[in-house]
Amino acid sequence: MEKYDYLIVGAGLYGACFAHQAFLKGKRCLVVDKRSHMGGNLYCEEVGGINVHKYGAHIFHTSDKDVWEYVNSLVEFNRYTNSPLANYRGELYNLPFNMNTFYQLWGARTPAEASVIIERQRTEMEGREPGNLEEQAISLVGRDIYEKLIKGYTEKQWGRPCTELPAFIIRRLPVRFTFDNNYFNDKYQGIPIGGYNRLISKMLVGADVRLDTDYFLCKEELDALADKVVFTGMIDEYFGYCYGKLEYRTLRFEEERLDIPNFQGNAVINYTEREIPYTRIIEHKHFEFGNQEHTVVTREYPSEWQTGAEPYYPVNDTRNERLFGMYRELAERQTNVIFGGRLAQYKYFDMHHVIHQVLTIKDQI
Ligand code: FDA
Repeated sequence: MEKYDYLIVGAGLYGACFAHQAFLKGKRCLVVDKRSHMGGNLYCEEVGGINVHKYGAHIFHTSDKDVWEYVNSLVEFNRYTNSPLANYRGELYNLPFNMNTFYQLWGARTPAEASVIIERQRTEMEGREPGNLEEQAISLVGRDIYEKLIKGYTEKQWGRPCTELPAFIIRRLPVRFTFDNNYFNDKYQGIPIGGYNRLISKMLVGADVRLDTDYFLCKEELDALADKVVFTGMIDEYFGYCYGKLEYRTLRFEEERLDIPNFQGNAVINYTEREIPYTRIIEHKHFEFGNQEHTVVTREYPSEWQTGAEPYYPVNDTRNERLFGMYRELAERQTNVIFGGRLAQYKYFDMHHVIHQVLTIKDQI
């Protein structure tokens, strides 16, 4: 029987990047994934020449030169810059909160005019410690921005009124007093030309990959094939949920192909009123400046997570953090298993964080 140096559970970004670094060191890897495709949540499906982000919009951004040079050594990136809009009851506002937004909200034309309005509105909370997310947001940016651009969106995301959400969820709300709609502050940003699948394929070039393979259905047999295991699935599942289940928020995606060339003129538009059940509409072609005759849009609906649903966002509240801490202790005692990626570390990571982590440990491979 062929013996591998590493069995990698999960062909997502962490697993693929690890496999690539191992390949560069001459190591042999077997990568298994329970899904029928590689790429984890970066996976794109091609619909009439448009790369559709099947698990939500993915925009690569980083200020880490090593990470940027690494991904660019594999694929070329385009110049896409994320400049989302918010639609509140038919009114359009630029995001993140910047001078364009303040002009749209109040007609403020200068930073001085805008900051006077924000400061005045923030005084509503003066002298009081914010006791919930609503009060926290008002204390940071005032009532207008909160009511129109934060409240409904956040309530849909978390499935609860902002008055019942803890203040700590929002620590900072960056406000920009320049006319700059670039959502990220990072130095580098873009989308792989030809889509994310190309990036993942390049990473997995030297590995053997088995799809439709759930690790837990054949754990013993798979473990026997390699010296070490890299596990990127759910940490609580790895330990048989012995302390109970970690919780997540999940998303439902409703995809639609339209026979028009341009539906909304932008890749991402957030819907910030409570009454519209989805949080945003993604128009995929705009990530790659597509000029097809048709278009594909996806509406994103946040919802309660139940076992079996895709675990998208960890709920890092006190209960779950305590539980995760217990699982992490168990993980630290496993000498032959590396727990990596967002599910095994029960933490939201951007793509550049994941790559940075792998590059950091590459010398130990
Ligand atoms: P990922 O979930 O991708 O991979 C884990 C893999 O393990 C999956 O393929 C899964 O099927 C497999 N697996 C699990 N259990 C298994 C088992 N028992 N047996 C076999 N296989 C198993 N980041 C960013 O930088 N810019 C962005 O714009 C976005 N946008 C974004 C939108 C949404 C909606 C989400 C939820 C996340 C983002 N991200 C993001 C974050 C990005 O998705 C994240 O950084 C990577 O997907 C993390 O890669 P992992 O390999 O850790 O997990």
